[in-house]
Parts: sequence; structure tokens; C-alpha cells
Amino acid sequence: MDCIGIIGYGHMGSMLVNGFLSSGVLGIDEVVVTSRSRESRDACAAAWPGIGIAATNRELARQCRTIVLAVRPQETKEVLSEIVPVMDGDEHIVSLAAGIGLAEIEGMFPGSVTRVVPTITSTVGQGTTLICHGRQVGMHDALRVEGLFSAIGNVMLVGEEELPAATILSSCGPGLFAAIIEELAGATVRASGLTPEQALALATETAAATAAYLRETGETPGDLVGRVATGGGVTEVGVRGFRERLPEVFDEAVAAMLERYGAVGK
Ligand SMILES: NC(=O)c1ccc[n+]([C@@H]2O[C@H](COP(=O)([O-])OP(=O)(O)OC[C@H]3O[C@@H](n4cnc5c(N)ncnc54)[C@H](OP(=O)(O)O)[C@@H]3O)[C@@H](O)[C@H]2O)c1
Repeated sequence: MDCIGIIGYGHMGSMLVNGFLSSGVLGIDEVVVTSRSRESRDACAAAWPGIGIAATNRELARQCRTIVLAVRPQETKEVLSEIVPVMDGDEHIVSLAAGIGLAEIEGMFPGSVTRVVPTITSTVGQGTTLICHGRQVGMHDALRVEGLFSAIGNVMLVGEEELPAATILSSCGPGLFAAIIEELAGATVRASGLTPEQALALATETAAATAAYLRETGETPGDLVGRVATGGGVTEVGVRGFRERLPEVFDEAVAAMLERYGAVGK
């Protein structure tokens, strides 16, 4: 049966089920879900009446040709070793696990394997899912997976070497930008009579508007800084401070994230 099976109904698994079904890219009879706990399986069945729920990972693997592993990196190999014995070999494994390479998965399942890095912002149909196909993935399977994720946002095909850095931008990015919004809003609250709610509303809306401006005008961030930070003005003082101190902060943060990425799932 050419259905999509999703193993793991956590943050990402539930987001994918919601996204694929709400967007209409998949019908309710084209998705089968399982998760370790009865509670998660029941939650999925309650949220999506009529959806296929498999009692075990093996049951799902017997039913579906495309199998999305939406479990944590440390659980991915355990789930794979559980399901591989009941698979035919012509299935397509789609792994979300950060830090577990194609070669490692292909070592356990010598068939079609794709790594996908989702982003929490797909919940609102925005952001970019990264896709990295293994060498065994045929055109049909590649386009199918790309089409599915295109329904919940943008997709970008990347080589496996670029995946860690691209992950920092697309998948960790929402957390990083949220932290920046929080810091900027917090600093204005500490320095003024703005309420935290006012500051957060302004900072959040400005971040969204800035991204929309850059996307729609095609200007670079440098162009935009040049338009807003006029010589001797208020913005220029802030931007100068950022440019003096932030490169070091960001270099350190990116280096630490890349180091952690390499250790995930090991
Ligand atoms: N969160 C993000 O923003 C993000 C971004 C990019 C990539 N990812 C990747 O996405 C994957 C999932 O992350 P997540 O945030 O969704 O994790 P999560 O919320 O912890 O969800 C993982 C789910 O896997 C289920 N599970 C665990 N062991 C299982 C097993 N042996 N068999 C079947 N189901 C099992 C758990 O089920 P129960 O609840 O039933 O116990 C849990 O619901 C990870 O590999 C992560 O690296 C996450």
C-alpha cells in the first residue's frame, strides 16, 4: 500500500500529520501513524478521526512504503533495527533525526533513504524544510517527498555536508530569532516605561515585517540597514554596537551549535 507511515507522534510527528492533512496534500486514508505510548496514538486518533493507527512500529512498516521516522535521534536506530526485518527493501525511509547520517541509516537499511530537517514554523505554513536524498532514492520517491513538504512551507535540497549549517538557519533559526526578539524587547522594557506585552508585540511584528520587506523587495540586509541607519541617527548607534560585538557572539554560538550537532545521536 502506497501510504505514508509516521513513527513518533511528538512535536514533529503531530505537526506533519496536521500539515499534510490540513493542506490536503494527503487524504486521511493515506496516512498511518504510530507512537510508543497508547496516549499518543489515542491523541492522534482523536484529532484525526478515520486516520490509520498502527499498534506497533512493525505493523506500520508492513503497511507503508514511505516511512517517516519522527522519533528522537537516540531512538532512531532502535526503531530502524526493529522494523527492518519486516521490510521488503523497496520502502523509502525518511529520517528526521539530526546528526544521524545517510551512511549510518543505509548501513542498517540498504535501500532508499532521505534525510529531512523540518522546522517548527511549518505549523503556520512558513519556513524551509531541508531535504537530502541518499543515492538510492529514485525520481518518483524524491518528488513525492519534496511535494509533501512543499505543502507545508518551502523546501530546499541540500548536500549532506551543508546540512549542519543549513539546519542552524532553518530549523534552529526559529529558536534563535525568538531569543533575539525576546532580548531586544526586554532591553527596551528595562530602559523605558513600555510594558513587556507592548514591547514583545512591537518586536515580533517588526521582525515579521522586516523579513517580509527583505523577501518582497529583494534588498540585502545591508541595503536595508543603509536605508534605516542614516549617519548620526538613532538606528546607526544601535547597529554600530551590534556590528562591533555581535560577530564574536554569533561565531561562538554557531561553533557551539555545530559541535553539539556532531554529538547528537552518538
Ligand atoms: N523539534 C524540532 O524543532 C525539530 C526540528 C528538526 C528536526 N527534529 C527532529 O525530529 C525528530 C523528532 O523530534 P520531536 O521534537 O518531535 O521529538 P518528540 O516530541 O520527543 O517526539 C518523539 C516521539 O517519538 C515517540 N517515540 C519514542 N520512541 C519510540 C519508539 N521506540 N517507537 C515509536 N515511537 C517512539 C515518542 O512517543 P510517545 O509520546 O508515544 O512516547 C514521541 O512522541 C528528532 O529526530 C529531531 O532531531 C526536530
